Amino acid sequence: MISVSDVRSRDIRFHYDLTTVFYRLLRGQHIHHGLWDPEHGQVTGDSPLVAQIHLVNTLATKALISAGQRVLDVGCGMGGSSIHLARERHCDVTGITLSPVQKLWATTSAAFSGVRRRTRFRQADAEAIEFSASQFDVVWSVECTEHLFDKPAFFRKAAKWLKPGGRMAICAWLAGEKSDTPAGVEQVRQVCENFLCPSLGSESDYVGWMTAGGLEMVEAADWTDQVLATWEICERRVRRTGMRWLAKLVDRNTQNFLNHFETILNAYRSRAMGYGCFVARKN
Ligand SMILES: C[S@@+](CC[C@H](N)C(=O)[O-])C[C@H]1O[C@@H](n2cnc3c(N)ncnc32)[C@H](O)[C@@H]1O
Repeated sequence: MISVSDVRSRDIRFHYDLTTVFYRLLRGQHIHHGLWDPEHGQVTGDSPLVAQIHLVNTLATKALISAGQRVLDVGCGMGGSSIHLARERHCDVTGITLSPVQKLWATTSAAFSGVRRRTRFRQADAEAIEFSASQFDVVWSVECTEHLFDKPAFFRKAAKWLKPGGRMAICAWLAGEKSDTPAGVEQVRQVCENFLCPSLGSESDYVGWMTAGGLEMVEAADWTDQVLATWEICERRVRRTGMRWLAKLVDRNTQNFLNHFETILNAYRSRAMGYGCFVARKN
């Protein structure tokens, strides 16, 4: 795991409060990578939205999500996954996010999408909140655990929220296989600082945290090559629009975020960073 010391929880919350509109313009309702199949090519294949939905559907299928299940969406953003799972897989979804703006956005979107009764959104810190033991069939988290400070503690706690037979489904930015060189460490450190991640765990860290929580791994997959087109598309969108100029009116963290897409792309290309999909089961 590679850690930095100067990320604070209130900066993460503030970032998502302020940048929800930027994210909406850049990425749509889903604030996560798209998943392109290798045979589609990196950028010329499916649209970003189709690729994002493909990522959600692929993870949902691996996690055996089905109608009537209770799902906890940790770090739910604007409700992209939660609303999709409620609408398409007929689940009952609880979403939590640090950001009150996102909570409001997700709640409103769910109502417009006709899934108000099957979703609820709370503003809560995943590292502080408690749920009853065995409350959920699935604990789902797409690109939130990067932001957590004590990742092992979160996984120990979240494993308890699962019913026996329940699954944990995680997509996460990783410290990659080439992150153990000085140049690799520096690339990951820059990503952590500019994208407000206190640390990035490696694939084996995630496997270790889940198994330490008593879960049995079903799959740990490297999706790096299938997701990196996301940042090429974001970089083009930022260049073509006035988003950089607009960000100057907002705050330093938003400017950093928009100015470092190249940093993250280079980190993926050098394998200092990776992108992982993890599914684990509670026996
Ligand atoms: C990159 S966004 C991903 C959003 C969503 N999962 C999606 O895929 O569209 C990261 C999300 O994690 C949330 N987050 C970060 N730290 C958190 C914490 N400690 N507790 C709850 N949510 C957190 C942010 O508020 C944001 O919604």
